[in-house]
Amino acid sequence: MKFQKHSKRAALLLASASCLLAAGAVHAAPVKPASPMPQLVQKDGKFAFMVDGAPFLMLAGQANNSSNYPAALPKVWPAIADMHANTLVMPVAWEQIEPTEGHFDFSFVDTLVQQARQHGVRLDILWFGAWKNTGPSYAPQWVQRDNKRFPRMIDKDGSTSYCLSPNVETTREADKKAYVALLSHLKTIDPQHTVILLQIENESGVYGSVRDYSPKAEALFKQPVPAALIQKMGARALKPSGSWAEVFGDDADEYFQAWSVASYAQDLARAGKAILPLPTYMNDALRDALHPQKPGSYASGGPTYNVLDIYKVAAPDIDMEEPDLYSHASDVYEANLKLYGRRDNALFVAETGNAAMYAPKLYSLLGHQGIGFDPFGMDYTGYTNHPLGDDPVSFGPDEMKPFARIYGAFAPMQRVWAKLSFESQVWGVSEPDDHATQTLDLGPNWSAKVQYRLFTFGLPEWDTDHKAGFPEGSETPRGGVAVARLDDHTFLVTGTQARITFDAGPANKSKGVVQTIQEGHYDAAGQWVFDRVWNGDETDYGLNFSADPVVLKVTLSTYDK
Ligand code: DGJ
Repeated sequence: MKFQKHSKRAALLLASASCLLAAGAVHAAPVKPASPMPQLVQKDGKFAFMVDGAPFLMLAGQANNSSNYPAALPKVWPAIADMHANTLVMPVAWEQIEPTEGHFDFSFVDTLVQQARQHGVRLDILWFGAWKNTGPSYAPQWVQRDNKRFPRMIDKDGSTSYCLSPNVETTREADKKAYVALLSHLKTIDPQHTVILLQIENESGVYGSVRDYSPKAEALFKQPVPAALIQKMGARALKPSGSWAEVFGDDADEYFQAWSVASYAQDLARAGKAILPLPTYMNDALRDALHPQKPGSYASGGPTYNVLDIYKVAAPDIDMEEPDLYSHASDVYEANLKLYGRRDNALFVAETGNAAMYAPKLYSLLGHQGIGFDPFGMDYTGYTNHPLGDDPVSFGPDEMKPFARIYGAFAPMQRVWAKLSFESQVWGVSEPDDHATQTLDLGPNWSAKVQYRLFTFGLPEWDTDHKAGFPEGSETPRGGVAVARLDDHTFLVTGTQARITFDAGPANKSKGVVQTIQEGHYDAAGQWVFDRVWNGDETDYGLNFSADPVVLKVTLSTYDK
């Protein structure tokens, strides 16, 4: 409310807010004492997302774009509950909080935060400001309509682009003012940090052009490239100093656009963190990792993998740049996980499809020491983003199941897993398109192989020509496995539609392996609770996971052969 000019409308809003407060309808939940600020910590190239002072695995679900109104929320919470998600990812739009310039309306934010607490769910808020899927559709009308004050980019041929220019101070200042107002409001209403994470803008960059060619941009393009960027770019800088064209040659246009967008976002992030230092990230409409397109035919200037170093220099207050992963191809999916999971970038799948094939990708994410996973379109509002990512034509509790089953296994051990991922070692794989067997290198003493499309009884060697066929529904990859090291001999294992078989590692090659398998779960205090021992048919042919993951503790020992 700090930024309001107290107009009549604002006064009315304030009055109705006070009535609601008096009636206990807003902030109904008692405000708990301030809890530690969520933060990303990094040690030896590993990351933990600290929430309430301890590592947290973000099992998230993202609502559809237009679910950001109180009337839609009753169709969001049941989906998030069915999913066993611990975090709801929800847009808050500039047009929604500042429909009239200088007059802020946080009624949706208040409802969202209050209901999230009631549902025991944390929030990742997406700031839809100047850019949403690169366009300005979530900027208020008073911004979109005023192309003089808030000009769009100019294309190389002099035509006006659809995309707001990142090089215009008035746009940046207005966007920042609204974003800062949002953070100031959150600071007031959310001392317990129900909101744990913020995305700044959405899929920024521009399609159809490589950069802004406006007179302002042209002038900036001729300026010397900042020395810190030249240093970071190493051999990609053709010269130790000079203009963008001189230093970066053919890449100059795209690099300049990335620098412009990242600097704009940095300005918001820095101002926001001065108010409320929550972790921030930007999401990316991907450039194909294996078959890179030419700049201009993807979102140029967004945080694509080839410009991440530029973002790291230009936007130190953006903690992470993350992929929106809708690729069908398992090799492309994996390549992106590798490209974004860097020693300087914690890995979070900021978006992925809500078709069943994407659910086991969580195992791959965990194998890359990921801190969170966020399928898109996880609500029951009746809208689906079909055919993007081969998504289902309708999305309801049945379509939720593939995600719910895996989240259900991880939910009770979300803290345990996140701690192991940070402090110990973790592995994770999902079924590749060719269903090939994968090997996990568990260190010198142990190894494991993961196989797919097998029946639970018997060895594949018994039926090499597949006379018995394959298990029903196994044509489309659907499996995955995650493993965490508990100590030198003990591993925590879970999986879906896969078989894992443990064996001796290189240092144990002459020895036989004995295994003890406990099925169990973690209680609320993070203590392992033993349920039963697996033996006989459950272990003779490897450890077979069905569609309903269970959690196993595998203890390995050896004997002399
Ligand atoms: C990526 C965007 O970031 C999301 O907001 C959404 O529009 C999906 N694409 C498509 O449904």
